[in-house]
Amino acid sequence: MSTQPPVPGTDQPTPSLHDPDWWRQAVVYQVYPRSFADVDGDGVGDIAGVTDRVPYLRELGVDAIWLSPFYPSALADGGYDVADYRDVDPKLGTLADFDALVAAAHAAGIRIIVDVVPNHTSDLHVWFQEALESPRGSAARARYVFRDGSGPDGAEPPSDWVSNFGGSAWTRVADGQWYLHLFAREQPDLDWSNPEVRADFEQTLRFWSDRGVDGFRVDVAHAMAKDLSEPFRPSDQDHLPLDGSDPLYDRDEVHEILGSWRRVLDEYDPPRSAIAEAWVPARRRVLYARPTELGQAFNFDLLEAPFDPEAFRAIIDENLAQASQSGASSTWVLSNHDVVRHATRYGLPDGADSGAWLMSDGREPVLDRDRGLRRARAASLLVLALPGSAYVYQGEELGLHEVADIPYDRLQDPKWARSEHTDKGRDGCRVPIPWTRSGSSFGFGPDGAHLPQPADFGTWSVEAEDGVDGSTLELYRAALAFRRTHRGGEDLTWLETPDRVVGFARADGWRSVTNFGTDPVPLPEGAVVVASCPIEDGLLPGESTVWLTA
Ligand code: GLC
Repeated sequence: MSTQPPVPGTDQPTPSLHDPDWWRQAVVYQVYPRSFADVDGDGVGDIAGVTDRVPYLRELGVDAIWLSPFYPSALADGGYDVADYRDVDPKLGTLADFDALVAAAHAAGIRIIVDVVPNHTSDLHVWFQEALESPRGSAARARYVFRDGSGPDGAEPPSDWVSNFGGSAWTRVADGQWYLHLFAREQPDLDWSNPEVRADFEQTLRFWSDRGVDGFRVDVAHAMAKDLSEPFRPSDQDHLPLDGSDPLYDRDEVHEILGSWRRVLDEYDPPRSAIAEAWVPARRRVLYARPTELGQAFNFDLLEAPFDPEAFRAIIDENLAQASQSGASSTWVLSNHDVVRHATRYGLPDGADSGAWLMSDGREPVLDRDRGLRRARAASLLVLALPGSAYVYQGEELGLHEVADIPYDRLQDPKWARSEHTDKGRDGCRVPIPWTRSGSSFGFGPDGAHLPQPADFGTWSVEAEDGVDGSTLELYRAALAFRRTHRGGEDLTWLETPDRVVGFARADGWRSVTNFGTDPVPLPEGAVVVASCPIEDGLLPGESTVWLTA
Protein backbone atom coordinates (compact mmCIF):
# COMPACT_ATOMS: atom_id res chain seq x y z
CA MET A 1 0.00 0.00 0.00
CA SER A 2 1.47 3.40 -0.90
CA THR A 3 1.63 5.94 1.86
CA GLN A 4 1.02 9.63 2.35
CA PRO A 5 2.70 12.00 4.82
CA PRO A 6 2.02 11.41 8.53
CA VAL A 7 -1.29 12.54 9.95
CA PRO A 8 -0.73 15.76 11.89
CA GLY A 9 -0.15 15.00 15.55
CA THR A 10 0.76 11.37 14.98
CA ASP A 11 3.88 9.60 13.85
CA GLN A 12 2.10 7.06 11.67
CA PRO A 13 1.75 7.42 7.92
CA THR A 14 -1.74 7.81 6.57
CA PRO A 15 -2.54 4.89 4.26
CA SER A 16 -3.54 5.71 0.73
CA LEU A 17 -7.28 5.79 0.17
CA HIS A 18 -6.83 4.68 -3.43
CA ASP A 19 -6.09 1.03 -2.84
CA PRO A 20 -9.03 -0.80 -4.50
CA ASP A 21 -8.40 -3.91 -2.37
CA TRP A 22 -8.31 -2.19 1.02
CA TRP A 23 -11.39 -4.08 2.24
CA ARG A 24 -9.88 -7.53 1.77
CA GLN A 25 -7.95 -7.49 5.06
CA ALA A 26 -9.34 -4.50 6.88
CA VAL A 27 -10.31 -3.90 10.48
CA VAL A 28 -13.76 -2.34 10.31
CA TYR A 29 -15.12 -0.68 13.43
CA GLN A 30 -18.90 -0.68 13.76
CA VAL A 31 -20.34 2.53 15.17
CA TYR A 32 -23.94 2.39 16.36
CA PRO A 33 -24.32 6.15 16.11
CA ARG A 34 -27.05 6.70 18.70
CA SER A 35 -24.88 5.07 21.35
CA PHE A 36 -21.36 6.19 20.45
CA ALA A 37 -20.89 9.85 21.43
CA ASP A 38 -23.38 12.65 21.98
CA VAL A 39 -22.13 16.15 21.23
CA ASP A 40 -25.39 18.11 21.24
CA GLY A 41 -26.48 16.82 24.65
CA ASP A 42 -29.86 15.30 23.79
CA GLY A 43 -28.90 11.90 25.18
CA VAL A 44 -28.66 10.39 21.70
CA GLY A 45 -25.33 9.98 19.93
CA ASP A 46 -24.78 11.97 16.77
CA ILE A 47 -22.63 12.33 13.67
CA ALA A 48 -20.62 15.14 15.23
CA GLY A 49 -19.87 12.73 18.09
CA VAL A 50 -18.29 10.30 15.66
CA THR A 51 -16.22 13.08 14.08
CA ASP A 52 -15.12 14.14 17.54
CA ARG A 53 -13.78 10.63 18.21
CA VAL A 54 -11.96 10.10 14.92
CA PRO A 55 -8.62 10.65 16.71
CA TYR A 56 -9.57 7.84 19.13
CA LEU A 57 -10.33 5.51 16.23
CA ARG A 58 -7.14 6.57 14.51
CA GLU A 59 -5.16 5.67 17.61
CA LEU A 60 -7.04 2.40 17.93
CA GLY A 61 -5.81 1.64 14.42
CA VAL A 62 -8.96 0.76 12.50
CA ASP A 63 -9.09 0.93 8.70
CA ALA A 64 -12.75 1.84 8.35
CA ILE A 65 -15.83 2.90 10.27
CA TRP A 66 -19.13 1.21 9.47
CA LEU A 67 -21.99 3.47 10.52
CA SER A 68 -25.26 1.78 11.39
CA PRO A 69 -28.19 3.83 10.00
CA PHE A 70 -28.19 7.56 10.74
CA TYR A 71 -30.99 8.44 8.33
CA PRO A 72 -34.25 10.16 9.28
CA SER A 73 -36.17 7.60 11.30
CA ALA A 74 -38.82 7.31 13.99
CA LEU A 75 -36.46 4.74 15.59
CA ALA A 76 -39.08 2.00 15.60
CA ASP A 77 -36.14 -0.36 14.99
CA GLY A 78 -33.12 1.65 16.05
CA GLY A 79 -32.86 3.44 12.71
CA TYR A 80 -33.35 0.36 10.51
CA ASP A 81 -36.71 1.93 9.72
CA VAL A 82 -35.53 4.53 7.21
CA ALA A 83 -37.85 7.40 6.30
CA ASP A 84 -35.44 9.01 3.80
CA TYR A 85 -32.41 7.19 2.40
CA ARG A 86 -30.63 10.31 1.26
CA ASP A 87 -30.52 12.50 4.34
CA VAL A 88 -29.31 12.58 7.96
CA ASP A 89 -31.75 12.32 10.87
CA PRO A 90 -32.05 15.81 12.39
CA LYS A 91 -31.62 14.15 15.81
CA LEU A 92 -28.17 13.03 14.63
CA GLY A 93 -27.11 16.06 12.57
CA THR A 94 -27.08 17.29 9.01
CA LEU A 95 -25.61 16.34 5.67
CA ALA A 96 -22.94 18.97 6.34
CA ASP A 97 -22.05 17.11 9.55
CA PHE A 98 -21.81 13.92 7.54
CA ASP A 99 -19.49 15.56 5.01
CA ALA A 100 -17.34 16.82 7.87
CA LEU A 101 -17.11 13.28 9.25
CA VAL A 102 -16.05 11.86 5.89
CA ALA A 103 -13.41 14.57 5.57
CA ALA A 104 -12.06 14.01 9.10
CA ALA A 105 -12.00 10.23 8.70
CA HIS A 106 -10.31 10.40 5.32
CA ALA A 107 -7.70 12.83 6.63
CA ALA A 108 -6.93 10.20 9.29
CA GLY A 109 -6.73 7.45 6.65
CA ILE A 110 -10.01 5.87 7.79
CA ARG A 111 -12.70 4.88 5.32
CA ILE A 112 -16.45 5.21 5.81
CA ILE A 113 -18.98 2.44 5.19
CA VAL A 114 -22.69 3.22 5.42
CA ASP A 115 -25.59 0.86 6.01
CA VAL A 116 -28.25 0.55 3.31
CA VAL A 117 -31.58 -0.98 4.19
CA PRO A 118 -33.20 -2.18 0.98
CA ASN A 119 -35.67 -4.79 2.21
CA HIS A 120 -38.03 -2.33 3.87
CA THR A 121 -38.61 1.37 4.41
CA SER A 122 -40.08 3.10 7.43
CA ASP A 123 -43.85 3.46 7.42
CA LEU A 124 -43.10 7.20 7.48
CA HIS A 125 -41.28 7.06 4.14
CA VAL A 126 -43.05 9.25 1.59
CA TRP A 127 -43.71 6.18 -0.58
CA PHE A 128 -45.54 4.32 2.15
CA GLN A 129 -47.55 7.34 3.12
CA GLU A 130 -48.55 7.66 -0.53
CA ALA A 131 -49.41 3.95 -0.64
CA LEU A 132 -51.74 4.33 2.34
CA GLU A 133 -53.54 7.21 0.66
CA SER A 134 -53.81 5.42 -2.68
CA PRO A 135 -56.34 2.79 -3.72
CA ARG A 136 -55.83 -0.96 -4.10
CA GLY A 137 -53.99 -1.86 -7.26
CA SER A 138 -52.39 1.61 -7.55
CA ALA A 139 -48.80 2.20 -8.63
CA ALA A 140 -48.10 3.60 -5.14
CA ARG A 141 -49.13 0.30 -3.50
CA ALA A 142 -47.12 -1.69 -6.07
CA ARG A 143 -43.85 -0.46 -4.53
CA TYR A 144 -44.73 -2.53 -1.47
CA VAL A 145 -46.44 -5.89 -0.96
CA PHE A 146 -50.13 -5.20 -0.46
CA ARG A 147 -52.54 -8.15 -0.69
CA ASP A 148 -56.11 -8.97 0.17
CA GLY A 149 -56.58 -11.05 3.28
CA SER A 150 -57.83 -14.61 3.57
CA GLY A 151 -60.90 -15.98 5.34
CA PRO A 152 -64.35 -14.42 5.46
CA ASP A 153 -64.18 -10.69 4.62
CA GLY A 154 -60.42 -11.01 4.17
CA ALA A 155 -60.06 -10.52 7.90
CA GLU A 156 -57.23 -13.04 8.21
CA PRO A 157 -53.67 -12.33 7.06
CA PRO A 158 -52.89 -13.46 3.49
CA SER A 159 -50.44 -16.10 4.77
CA ASP A 160 -48.99 -17.47 8.00
CA TRP A 161 -45.60 -15.82 7.45
CA VAL A 162 -44.16 -14.54 10.72
CA SER A 163 -42.18 -11.40 11.47
CA ASN A 164 -38.57 -11.77 12.59
CA PHE A 165 -39.53 -9.84 15.70
CA GLY A 166 -42.54 -12.04 16.49
CA GLY A 167 -46.19 -11.97 15.45
CA SER A 168 -47.68 -11.98 11.96
CA ALA A 169 -45.66 -10.52 9.08
CA TRP A 170 -48.83 -8.83 7.81
CA THR A 171 -50.65 -5.73 9.06
CA ARG A 172 -54.06 -4.58 7.87
CA VAL A 173 -54.70 -1.03 6.64
CA ALA A 174 -57.86 1.05 6.78
CA ASP A 175 -59.36 -0.15 3.50
CA GLY A 176 -58.95 -3.81 4.49
CA GLN A 177 -55.81 -4.74 2.54
CA TRP A 178 -52.74 -6.11 4.25
CA TYR A 179 -49.08 -5.22 3.78
CA LEU A 180 -46.06 -7.43 4.35
CA HIS A 181 -43.35 -6.62 6.89
CA LEU A 182 -40.71 -9.21 7.73
CA PHE A 183 -39.70 -7.05 10.70
CA ALA A 184 -41.74 -4.50 12.70
CA ARG A 185 -45.08 -3.22 11.40
CA GLU A 186 -43.33 0.15 10.97
CA GLN A 187 -41.03 -1.51 8.40
CA PRO A 188 -43.10 -2.33 5.30
CA ASP A 189 -41.27 -4.57 2.80
CA LEU A 190 -40.55 -3.18 -0.65
CA ASP A 191 -41.39 -5.16 -3.77
CA TRP A 192 -38.07 -5.59 -5.55
CA SER A 193 -39.66 -6.84 -8.75
CA ASN A 194 -40.77 -3.20 -9.24
CA PRO A 195 -38.28 -1.33 -11.50
CA GLU A 196 -38.99 1.93 -9.69
CA VAL A 197 -37.69 0.45 -6.44
CA ARG A 198 -34.53 -0.73 -8.15
CA ALA A 199 -33.89 2.62 -9.81
CA ASP A 200 -34.37 4.47 -6.54
CA PHE A 201 -31.81 2.37 -4.69
CA GLU A 202 -29.24 2.84 -7.42
CA GLN A 203 -29.75 6.56 -6.89
CA THR A 204 -29.12 6.07 -3.17
CA LEU A 205 -25.87 4.18 -3.83
CA ARG A 206 -24.71 6.98 -6.11
CA PHE A 207 -25.79 9.69 -3.68
CA TRP A 208 -23.52 8.39 -0.91
CA SER A 209 -20.72 7.30 -3.24
CA ASP A 210 -20.66 10.82 -4.69
CA ARG A 211 -20.31 12.15 -1.12
CA GLY A 212 -17.15 10.13 -0.68
CA VAL A 213 -18.47 7.04 1.05
CA ASP A 214 -16.08 4.11 0.54
CA GLY A 215 -18.41 1.17 0.98
CA PHE A 216 -21.83 -0.18 1.89
CA ARG A 217 -23.17 -2.72 4.36
CA VAL A 218 -26.35 -4.22 2.90
CA ASP A 219 -28.99 -4.99 5.50
CA VAL A 220 -30.84 -8.33 5.19
CA ALA A 221 -29.53 -8.71 1.65
CA HIS A 222 -30.95 -12.23 1.46
CA ALA A 223 -34.58 -11.15 1.80
CA MET A 224 -35.02 -8.68 -1.04
CA ALA A 225 -36.33 -11.16 -3.64
CA LYS A 226 -39.53 -13.04 -2.76
CA ASP A 227 -41.85 -15.51 -4.39
CA LEU A 228 -45.14 -13.70 -3.99
CA SER A 229 -47.20 -16.05 -6.14
CA GLU A 230 -50.35 -17.23 -4.42
CA PRO A 231 -51.16 -19.39 -2.62
CA PHE A 232 -48.19 -18.31 -0.48
CA ARG A 233 -45.87 -21.14 0.44
CA PRO A 234 -44.56 -21.60 3.99
CA SER A 235 -41.07 -20.26 4.74
CA ASP A 236 -38.61 -21.94 7.10
CA GLN A 237 -35.86 -19.49 7.88
CA ASP A 238 -34.19 -21.81 10.38
CA HIS A 239 -33.69 -24.53 7.78
CA LEU A 240 -33.18 -22.74 4.52
CA PRO A 241 -32.91 -25.06 1.52
CA LEU A 242 -29.64 -25.03 -0.42
CA ASP A 243 -31.38 -24.57 -3.77
CA GLY A 244 -32.78 -21.07 -3.14
CA SER A 245 -36.37 -22.31 -3.03
CA ASP A 246 -37.60 -20.68 0.21
CA PRO A 247 -40.28 -18.12 -0.73
CA LEU A 248 -38.79 -15.32 1.40
CA TYR A 249 -35.09 -15.84 2.05
CA ASP A 250 -32.01 -16.49 -0.02
CA ARG A 251 -33.74 -16.73 -3.39
CA ASP A 252 -31.59 -16.84 -6.51
CA GLU A 253 -33.23 -13.73 -7.98
CA VAL A 254 -31.52 -11.62 -5.33
CA HIS A 255 -28.21 -12.14 -7.11
CA GLU A 256 -29.43 -10.41 -10.21
CA ILE A 257 -30.21 -7.32 -8.08
CA LEU A 258 -26.85 -7.43 -6.30
CA GLY A 259 -25.06 -7.86 -9.64
CA SER A 260 -26.66 -4.65 -10.87
CA TRP A 261 -25.45 -2.90 -7.70
CA ARG A 262 -21.90 -4.08 -8.35
CA ARG A 263 -22.02 -2.41 -11.75
CA VAL A 264 -22.96 0.87 -10.04
CA LEU A 265 -20.24 0.49 -7.38
CA ASP A 266 -17.66 -0.24 -10.06
CA GLU A 267 -18.39 3.08 -11.77
CA TYR A 268 -16.32 4.68 -9.00
CA ASP A 269 -12.57 4.92 -8.64
CA PRO A 270 -11.69 3.12 -6.47
CA PRO A 271 -14.76 0.89 -6.75
CA ARG A 272 -16.95 1.09 -3.67
CA SER A 273 -16.80 -1.97 -1.43
CA ALA A 274 -19.87 -3.79 -0.15
CA ILE A 275 -20.72 -6.48 2.35
CA ALA A 276 -23.90 -8.50 2.63
CA GLU A 277 -25.70 -9.22 5.84
CA ALA A 278 -27.15 -12.56 4.81
CA TRP A 279 -28.06 -15.15 7.44
CA VAL A 280 -27.82 -18.06 5.02
CA PRO A 281 -26.10 -21.46 5.09
CA ALA A 282 -22.31 -21.12 4.70
CA ARG A 283 -22.38 -22.77 1.28
CA ARG A 284 -24.75 -20.12 -0.09
CA ARG A 285 -22.89 -17.19 1.49
CA VAL A 286 -20.22 -17.23 -1.20
CA LEU A 287 -22.81 -16.29 -3.81
CA TYR A 288 -23.31 -12.88 -2.17
CA ALA A 289 -19.57 -12.39 -1.83
CA ARG A 290 -18.65 -13.06 -5.46
CA PRO A 291 -16.59 -10.28 -7.09
CA THR A 292 -19.50 -9.78 -9.49
CA GLU A 293 -21.75 -9.01 -6.50
CA LEU A 294 -20.87 -7.48 -3.15
CA GLY A 295 -17.33 -8.80 -2.63
CA GLN A 296 -17.89 -9.83 0.97
CA ALA A 297 -20.62 -11.35 3.12
CA PHE A 298 -20.69 -11.46 6.89
CA ASN A 299 -19.62 -14.78 8.29
CA PHE A 300 -21.53 -15.15 11.55
CA ASP A 301 -20.30 -18.68 12.24
CA LEU A 302 -17.90 -17.75 15.04
CA LEU A 303 -20.51 -15.48 16.57
CA GLU A 304 -22.78 -18.51 16.86
CA ALA A 305 -20.06 -20.95 17.98
CA PRO A 306 -19.01 -21.90 21.52
CA PHE A 307 -15.50 -21.14 22.80
CA ASP A 308 -14.20 -24.44 21.54
CA PRO A 309 -11.03 -25.29 19.59
CA GLU A 310 -12.62 -27.80 17.20
CA ALA A 311 -15.48 -25.44 16.39
CA PHE A 312 -13.12 -22.52 15.74
CA ARG A 313 -10.79 -24.55 13.58
CA ALA A 314 -13.55 -26.09 11.45
CA ILE A 315 -15.21 -22.70 10.90
CA ILE A 316 -11.92 -21.06 9.94
CA ASP A 317 -11.07 -23.84 7.49
CA GLU A 318 -14.47 -23.80 5.86
CA ASN A 319 -14.63 -20.04 5.46
CA LEU A 320 -11.12 -19.62 4.12
CA ALA A 321 -11.77 -22.38 1.58
CA GLN A 322 -15.01 -20.78 0.48
CA ALA A 323 -13.49 -17.34 0.22
CA SER A 324 -10.66 -18.51 -1.99
CA GLN A 325 -13.12 -20.44 -4.13
CA SER A 326 -15.31 -17.39 -4.76
CA GLY A 327 -12.58 -14.74 -5.01
CA ALA A 328 -13.93 -12.97 -1.92
CA SER A 329 -12.02 -12.52 1.31
CA SER A 330 -13.28 -13.92 4.61
CA THR A 331 -14.96 -11.83 7.25
CA TRP A 332 -14.93 -12.44 11.00
CA VAL A 333 -17.42 -11.15 13.55
CA LEU A 334 -17.71 -11.88 17.27
CA SER A 335 -20.13 -9.10 18.26
CA ASN A 336 -22.49 -6.62 16.66
CA HIS A 337 -25.57 -4.57 17.50
CA ASP A 338 -27.88 -7.60 17.15
CA VAL A 339 -26.35 -10.12 19.53
CA VAL A 340 -25.30 -10.51 23.17
CA ARG A 341 -21.73 -9.23 23.53
CA HIS A 342 -19.11 -11.97 23.26
CA ALA A 343 -17.53 -11.28 26.67
CA THR A 344 -20.92 -12.20 28.14
CA ARG A 345 -21.67 -15.15 25.86
CA TYR A 346 -18.36 -16.74 26.84
CA GLY A 347 -18.93 -16.08 30.55
CA LEU A 348 -22.25 -17.93 30.73
CA PRO A 349 -22.18 -21.67 31.43
CA ASP A 350 -21.70 -23.74 28.25
CA GLY A 351 -24.97 -24.15 26.40
CA ALA A 352 -26.78 -21.47 28.44
CA ASP A 353 -29.61 -19.61 26.71
CA SER A 354 -28.54 -15.97 26.69
CA GLY A 355 -32.12 -14.87 25.96
CA ALA A 356 -33.35 -16.55 29.14
CA TRP A 357 -30.44 -14.99 31.04
CA LEU A 358 -31.49 -11.55 29.78
CA MET A 359 -35.09 -12.21 30.84
CA SER A 360 -33.83 -12.87 34.38
CA ASP A 361 -32.12 -9.44 34.32
CA GLY A 362 -28.80 -11.27 34.29
CA ARG A 363 -29.35 -13.26 37.49
CA GLU A 364 -29.76 -16.80 36.14
CA PRO A 365 -27.54 -18.58 35.31
CA VAL A 366 -24.65 -16.82 37.05
CA LEU A 367 -22.36 -14.95 34.67
CA ASP A 368 -18.63 -15.41 35.29
CA ARG A 369 -17.59 -11.96 34.12
CA ASP A 370 -13.84 -12.49 34.48
CA ARG A 371 -13.86 -15.74 32.60
CA GLY A 372 -16.05 -14.25 29.87
CA LEU A 373 -13.68 -11.37 29.37
CA ARG A 374 -10.61 -13.60 29.47
CA ARG A 375 -12.07 -15.80 26.75
CA ALA A 376 -13.31 -12.81 24.75
CA ARG A 377 -9.81 -11.32 24.71
CA ALA A 378 -8.38 -14.66 23.59
CA ALA A 379 -10.99 -15.07 20.85
CA SER A 380 -10.61 -11.47 19.66
CA LEU A 381 -6.86 -11.79 19.41
CA LEU A 382 -7.24 -15.04 17.46
CA VAL A 383 -9.75 -13.43 15.07
CA LEU A 384 -7.56 -10.37 14.55
CA ALA A 385 -4.76 -12.70 13.41
CA LEU A 386 -6.86 -14.33 10.70
CA PRO A 387 -6.62 -13.47 7.03
CA GLY A 388 -9.65 -11.50 5.83
CA SER A 389 -11.50 -8.61 7.42
CA ALA A 390 -12.32 -8.32 11.11
CA TYR A 391 -15.43 -6.43 12.18
CA VAL A 392 -15.12 -4.91 15.65
CA TYR A 393 -18.25 -3.68 17.43
CA GLN A 394 -17.98 -0.47 19.46
CA GLY A 395 -17.10 -1.19 23.08
CA GLU A 396 -15.66 -4.65 22.53
CA GLU A 397 -12.22 -3.00 22.53
CA LEU A 398 -13.03 -1.97 26.11
CA GLY A 399 -14.11 -5.47 27.11
CA LEU A 400 -17.70 -4.41 27.70
CA HIS A 401 -20.27 -6.91 28.87
CA GLU A 402 -23.93 -7.03 27.86
CA VAL A 403 -26.20 -4.91 30.08
CA ALA A 404 -28.90 -7.29 31.24
CA ASP A 405 -30.86 -5.29 33.78
CA ILE A 406 -32.32 -2.47 31.69
CA PRO A 407 -35.74 -1.80 33.24
CA TYR A 408 -38.64 -2.95 31.07
CA ASP A 409 -39.99 0.55 30.67
CA ARG A 410 -36.70 1.72 29.17
CA LEU A 411 -36.41 -1.00 26.51
CA GLN A 412 -36.48 0.27 22.94
CA ASP A 413 -36.08 -2.84 20.80
CA PRO A 414 -39.34 -3.71 18.98
CA LYS A 415 -38.65 -7.36 19.81
CA TRP A 416 -39.76 -6.69 23.38
CA ALA A 417 -43.31 -5.71 22.49
CA ARG A 418 -43.69 -7.95 19.44
CA SER A 419 -42.59 -11.02 21.40
CA GLU A 420 -45.30 -10.20 23.96
CA HIS A 421 -42.60 -9.49 26.49
CA THR A 422 -40.86 -12.84 26.22
CA ASP A 423 -37.70 -11.52 24.50
CA LYS A 424 -35.88 -8.53 25.99
CA GLY A 425 -34.19 -7.94 22.66
CA ARG A 426 -30.96 -6.23 21.74
CA ASP A 427 -30.77 -3.08 23.85
CA GLY A 428 -28.21 -4.65 26.20
CA CYS A 429 -25.46 -4.38 23.59
CA ARG A 430 -26.57 -0.90 22.50
CA VAL A 431 -26.05 0.93 25.78
CA PRO A 432 -24.03 4.14 25.18
CA ILE A 433 -20.35 3.38 25.66
CA PRO A 434 -18.27 4.83 28.52
CA TRP A 435 -15.52 7.31 27.68
CA THR A 436 -14.69 8.64 31.14
CA ARG A 437 -14.51 7.16 34.66
CA SER A 438 -17.31 9.33 35.95
CA GLY A 439 -19.55 12.21 34.97
CA SER A 440 -22.87 12.40 33.25
CA SER A 441 -23.24 9.26 31.14
CA PHE A 442 -19.53 8.47 31.61
CA GLY A 443 -18.47 10.93 28.94
CA PHE A 444 -20.96 9.72 26.35
CA GLY A 445 -22.55 13.18 26.37
CA PRO A 446 -23.12 16.20 28.55
CA ASP A 447 -26.59 15.26 29.67
CA GLY A 448 -27.43 11.61 30.19
CA ALA A 449 -27.86 8.67 27.87
CA HIS A 450 -30.89 7.27 26.08
CA LEU A 451 -30.40 3.84 27.68
CA PRO A 452 -29.31 3.45 31.32
CA GLN A 453 -25.66 2.60 31.89
CA PRO A 454 -24.49 0.31 34.73
CA ALA A 455 -23.00 2.01 37.80
CA ASP A 456 -19.58 0.40 37.23
CA PHE A 457 -19.34 1.41 33.55
CA GLY A 458 -16.60 3.94 34.32
CA THR A 459 -14.23 1.08 35.23
CA TRP A 460 -14.43 0.01 31.60
CA SER A 461 -14.14 3.46 30.10
CA VAL A 462 -11.58 4.67 27.60
CA GLU A 463 -10.17 6.96 30.30
CA ALA A 464 -9.73 4.07 32.73
CA GLU A 465 -8.02 1.82 30.16
CA ASP A 466 -5.97 4.34 28.18
CA GLY A 467 -2.27 3.70 28.66
CA VAL A 468 -2.89 0.94 31.21
CA ASP A 469 -0.72 -2.07 30.57
CA GLY A 470 -2.85 -5.16 30.08
CA SER A 471 -6.14 -3.31 29.53
CA THR A 472 -8.37 -4.56 26.76
CA LEU A 473 -8.03 -1.23 24.96
CA GLU A 474 -4.25 -1.51 24.93
CA LEU A 475 -4.52 -5.13 23.78
CA TYR A 476 -6.59 -4.09 20.75
CA ARG A 477 -4.29 -1.15 20.01
CA ALA A 478 -1.19 -3.35 20.09
CA ALA A 479 -2.83 -6.04 17.95
CA LEU A 480 -4.11 -3.60 15.34
CA ALA A 481 -0.77 -1.80 15.11
CA PHE A 482 1.07 -5.07 14.44
CA ARG A 483 -1.57 -6.33 12.02
CA ARG A 484 -1.40 -3.13 9.98
CA THR A 485 2.16 -3.89 8.96
CA HIS A 486 1.84 -7.70 8.79
CA ARG A 487 -1.21 -8.42 6.71
CA GLY A 488 0.55 -10.81 4.34
CA GLY A 489 -1.33 -13.22 2.07
CA GLU A 490 -4.86 -14.46 2.52
CA ASP A 491 -4.04 -17.92 3.77
CA LEU A 492 -2.61 -19.57 6.86
CA THR A 493 -0.74 -22.71 7.87
CA TRP A 494 -1.99 -24.72 10.83
CA LEU A 495 0.63 -25.55 13.44
CA GLU A 496 1.07 -28.84 15.26
CA THR A 497 -0.31 -28.09 18.71
CA PRO A 498 -1.26 -29.96 21.90
CA ASP A 499 -4.86 -30.90 22.62
CA ARG A 500 -7.18 -27.87 23.04
CA VAL A 501 -4.61 -25.53 21.53
CA VAL A 502 -5.08 -23.93 18.11
CA GLY A 503 -2.18 -22.26 16.34
CA PHE A 504 -1.50 -20.99 12.87
CA ALA A 505 1.19 -19.11 10.97
CA ARG A 506 0.68 -16.24 8.54
CA ALA A 507 2.63 -15.66 5.35
CA ASP A 508 5.77 -14.05 6.76
CA GLY A 509 5.97 -16.52 9.61
CA TRP A 510 4.31 -14.76 12.54
CA ARG A 511 2.03 -17.00 14.54
CA SER A 512 -1.07 -16.88 16.67
CA VAL A 513 -1.55 -19.58 19.30
CA THR A 514 -4.68 -19.96 21.45
CA ASN A 515 -5.01 -22.17 24.48
CA PHE A 516 -8.72 -22.99 24.71
CA GLY A 517 -8.14 -25.23 27.73
CA THR A 518 -7.95 -24.11 31.33
CA ASP A 519 -4.48 -25.50 32.17
CA PRO A 520 -1.35 -23.60 31.08
CA VAL A 521 0.67 -25.09 28.22
CA PRO A 522 4.32 -24.49 27.29
CA LEU A 523 4.76 -21.26 25.36
CA PRO A 524 5.93 -21.98 21.80
CA GLU A 525 9.34 -20.66 20.70
CA GLY A 526 9.60 -17.09 19.47
CA ALA A 527 9.32 -13.48 20.55
CA VAL A 528 5.99 -12.44 22.07
CA VAL A 529 4.35 -9.61 20.13
CA VAL A 530 1.15 -9.37 22.12
CA ALA A 531 -0.73 -11.65 24.50
CA SER A 532 -4.28 -11.65 25.85
CA CYS A 533 -3.06 -12.64 29.38
CA PRO A 534 0.23 -12.03 31.18
CA ILE A 535 2.79 -14.63 30.16
CA GLU A 536 4.85 -16.01 33.06
CA ASP A 537 7.33 -18.85 33.53
CA GLY A 538 7.36 -19.77 29.86
CA LEU A 539 3.72 -20.83 29.96
CA LEU A 540 0.69 -19.83 27.92
CA PRO A 541 -2.13 -19.54 30.48
CA GLY A 542 -5.50 -21.21 29.99
CA GLU A 543 -8.02 -19.37 27.79
CA SER A 544 -5.51 -17.03 26.24
CA THR A 545 -3.91 -16.17 22.91
CA VAL A 546 -0.39 -15.08 22.09
CA TRP A 547 1.14 -13.72 18.87
CA LEU A 548 4.76 -14.64 18.21
CA THR A 549 7.40 -13.82 15.67
CA ALA A 550 10.24 -16.19 14.77
C1 GLC B 1 -30.66 -6.37 10.31
C2 GLC B 1 -30.11 -5.39 11.32
C3 GLC B 1 -31.04 -5.37 12.49
C4 GLC B 1 -32.40 -4.91 12.03
C5 GLC B 1 -32.92 -5.77 10.89
C6 GLC B 1 -34.07 -5.14 10.18
O1 GLC B 1 -30.66 -7.67 10.77
O2 GLC B 1 -28.81 -5.75 11.67
O3 GLC B 1 -30.58 -4.54 13.51
O4 GLC B 1 -33.32 -4.97 13.09
O5 GLC B 1 -31.92 -5.97 9.90
O6 GLC B 1 -33.63 -4.05 9.42
